[in-house]
Amino acid sequence: MKQLIFDFLQVAEAAALDSYPWIGRGNKHEADQAATTAMRQMLNKMDMAATVVIGEGEMDEAPMLYIGERLGTGRGPELDIAVDPLEGTNLAAYGLENSTTVIAAAPRGTLLHAPDMYMFKIAVGPKAKGSIDIERSVVENVRNVANALGKDVSELTVAVQQRERHAGILQEIRSTGARTKLFVDGDVTCAVATAVEFTGIDLFVGIGGAPEGVLAAVALKCLGGEMQARLLPTNDKERERCKAMGIETPDAPLVMDRLVASDECIFIATGVTTGMMLHGIQRHHDGTQTTHSLVTYSRDRGMYFVTSHHLRQLAV
Ligand code: FBP
Repeated sequence: MKQLIFDFLQVAEAAALDSYPWIGRGNKHEADQAATTAMRQMLNKMDMAATVVIGEGEMDEAPMLYIGERLGTGRGPELDIAVDPLEGTNLAAYGLENSTTVIAAAPRGTLLHAPDMYMFKIAVGPKAKGSIDIERSVVENVRNVANALGKDVSELTVAVQQRERHAGILQEIRSTGARTKLFVDGDVTCAVATAVEFTGIDLFVGIGGAPEGVLAAVALKCLGGEMQARLLPTNDKERERCKAMGIETPDAPLVMDRLVASDECIFIATGVTTGMMLHGIQRHHDGTQTTHSLVTYSRDRGMYFVTSHHLRQLAV
């Protein structure tokens, strides 16, 4: 897999570059479509036999990068692929901070097939690994993470998505005296940020998309952090859907090795708009562009920030 890292980087960069013309145009569907098309074209050129396990939807909805879609030339390793061609579609459409393109890969059969529903997630970076427990209250987790980091609780920063559904969680966090960092969209970035010290985020808690949860879990596995999660099916149909995707007990906690059942995985995110972790795409006077990406590979635990200069001119 290691030999494919540069190809995957180019996939994420291409998706970001092609979404650029749509930044701030108020049209999230076009922005997402542009990123998805680019990602799919690039993935199909790669020497691998890959299957999309986290993608843009179901086959019957006929999107590109549907779950189960086979990608690549068929030569090379058998892989599971998880994508979010534009994470934070509204952020990109409205020119707000923190939208990214995201791709993750692992050996075939090792990524959780997460249905498109909500998931409760809790995540930390490597220094607090082992201190979270989804079965315990948010208050206990906040205190335990502060302890593991050797910080006073008042110095702990917890990222929470700004949503009505998080009112109770926010109350719990504030009761401990910890700080909260609210974000509008893009919970992959905010969960991964727990493993990237300069972001200042120590803990991530909240309910967001399950597919985004698996993507963030891959990054945290690569970086030595931890995520625990629980799917939140709301009715029998959703419960059945979980079972059909191989999750027999949909309400059970999902630990790292269930989210990503391999010690070998790759995660790459490229900035579309500038955010807490990555610079957005910069377009220069001569039409060339610069991208900024986070590249991680579990086997070396490295955190590579890659700045690329693209000499190709955009058609738009
Ligand atoms: P999109 O990129 O699909 O717009 O998702 C953005 C996002 O903020 C995710 O990061 C998060 O998991 C999810 O939306 C939360 O869903 P909701 O907007 O329904 O609260």
